Amino acid sequence: MLKGLVLKNRSYRRFYQEVSIELETLRELVDLARLSASAMNLQPLKYVLSCESQKNALIFSHLGWAGYLKDWPGPVEGERPSAYIIVLGDTEISRSFGCDHGIAAQSILLGATERGLGGCMIATVKRQELSQALGIAPRYEILLVIALGKPKETVVIDKVDPNGDAKYWRDSQGVHHVPKRALGGIIIG
Ligand SMILES: Cc1cc2nc3c(=O)[nH]c(=O)nc-3n(C[C@H](O)[C@H](O)[C@H](O)COP(=O)(O)O)c2cc1C
Repeated sequence: MLKGLVLKNRSYRRFYQEVSIELETLRELVDLARLSASAMNLQPLKYVLSCESQKNALIFSHLGWAGYLKDWPGPVEGERPSAYIIVLGDTEISRSFGCDHGIAAQSILLGATERGLGGCMIATVKRQELSQALGIAPRYEILLVIALGKPKETVVIDKVDPNGDAKYWRDSQGVHHVPKRALGGIIIG
């Protein structure tokens, strides 16, 4: 069951923008992150939630999408995320956040997948500008933005080809391909 959820939990970047996500759903997803592992149990992560169009548009304009898809600047209006969860590090709790935000983001995305939603972790963020635009206090560092919505694209997992190229790509039908390395190639001892 968990493997099924992990397989379905791909990075989605095109959505049915008209399908809205309730604030309560975002709160439930953050609750999954709250209950996840944290180094030294410091729990330094804080969150900003967005599920209304003006705030979504503001966040969207600060994000970088799918760096390997050189001809694709990101989702068009109508296919943009319906919601965002911005993961912040509270520097008054800790100066370094290790992998806490990755763990939190995975919990959030697995929860979203279980609910028939999908999303993408985004680290390509104009952090300073976004902080300013949202009026986020300087003590909070933007670590990741998680885009969320009802996926409008098909994503398939491929095997990494013999020359080892793991770059994702999109075919002529618009299907997004994500090559994954073989199990035998990643267990080295
Ligand atoms: C830490 C992290 C940062 C990422 N940043 C971005 C990003 O800035 N923009 C983007 O479009 N995708 C981003 N991604 C999504 C990856 O491109 C994606 O995970 C990868 O292509 C594998 O696809 P999969 O998630 O479906 O397995 C990020 C993923 C991770 C884990």
